[in-house]
Amino acid sequence: MLRVSNLHVAYGQVPALRGISLEIQPGELVALVGANGAGKSTTLKVLSGLVTPQSGAIEFLGQSIVGLSANQIVERGIIHVPEGRRIFPKLTVEQNLDVGAHGGRARGKEKATREEVYALFPRLHERRKQPGGALSGGEQQMLAFGRAMMAQPLLLMLDEPSLGLAPIIVEEVARAIEHFRQTGVTILLVEQNASLALGMASRGYVMETGRIVLADTGESLLDNPQVWASYLGQDPEISDEPPAAPAPQLSLV
Ligand SMILES: Nc1ncnc2c1ncn2[C@@H]1O[C@H](COP(=O)(O)OP(=O)(O)OP(=O)(O)O)[C@@H](O)[C@H]1O
Ligand SMILES: [Mg+2]
Repeated sequence: MLRVSNLHVAYGQVPALRGISLEIQPGELVALVGANGAGKSTTLKVLSGLVTPQSGAIEFLGQSIVGLSANQIVERGIIHVPEGRRIFPKLTVEQNLDVGAHGGRARGKEKATREEVYALFPRLHERRKQPGGALSGGEQQMLAFGRAMMAQPLLLMLDEPSLGLAPIIVEEVARAIEHFRQTGVTILLVEQNASLALGMASRGYVMETGRIVLADTGESLLDNPQVWASYLGQDPEISDEPPAAPAPQLSLV
């Protein structure tokens, strides 16, 4: 579905991606993990047309998308939920959702998708007339997911959806991601919480300073102590959950 080959990106003179190659098959949930500054967000920004690569190829559904505008890439079905859940604080929950439904892919499906989002996140329905800025962090993350769903993604790219959320809300986020996957959406998941992401992913890539240093199944990366020692460090979230722990069991919402 997505094939990225030898992608190079620099911010001014400073390289951020030094030859990234990765592949995603339809229906997969692929995790991209790595330490701060490794280039995870930059990878998503290039794929969504926000940052222009210096060189390299990106093929989506067999066609090059390098040089397309961010809007054209949304039209192709690649939807990016950026870090920090940028919802519109003054618009209501419902208006925030409707903003996501722009473009040809979403036309005619707004109402049905909105109902689907409300069924998945009943709290958004309860608060549909309230401003987005009045929601809790977890609810704003659900709203950001809901808005992305309104655009009818084929490939959904999520940047740090669990960041700053309480553990119980993180579980809810994980269930929502699992729900999207089960409805057939292909997902590229960037997470600092590597145990969460690798536990959910069919495959994972580990990044370090602009390069992909390891690629394997989510399970193998999760179980590989070397991965944690060399690349992912031992932040509190990780040391709470030893690498050998089984993947969390997720159920549908
Ligand atoms: N707008 C920018 N201008 C200059 N340098 C940038 C910019 N955005 C990112 N960088 C640099 O590019 C490199 C990769 O950053 P990126 O945000 O992609 O990393 P990341 O893996 O998402 O990190 P984090 O886990 O902290 O979110 C870092 O060295 C960062 O400082
Ligand atoms: Mg980032």
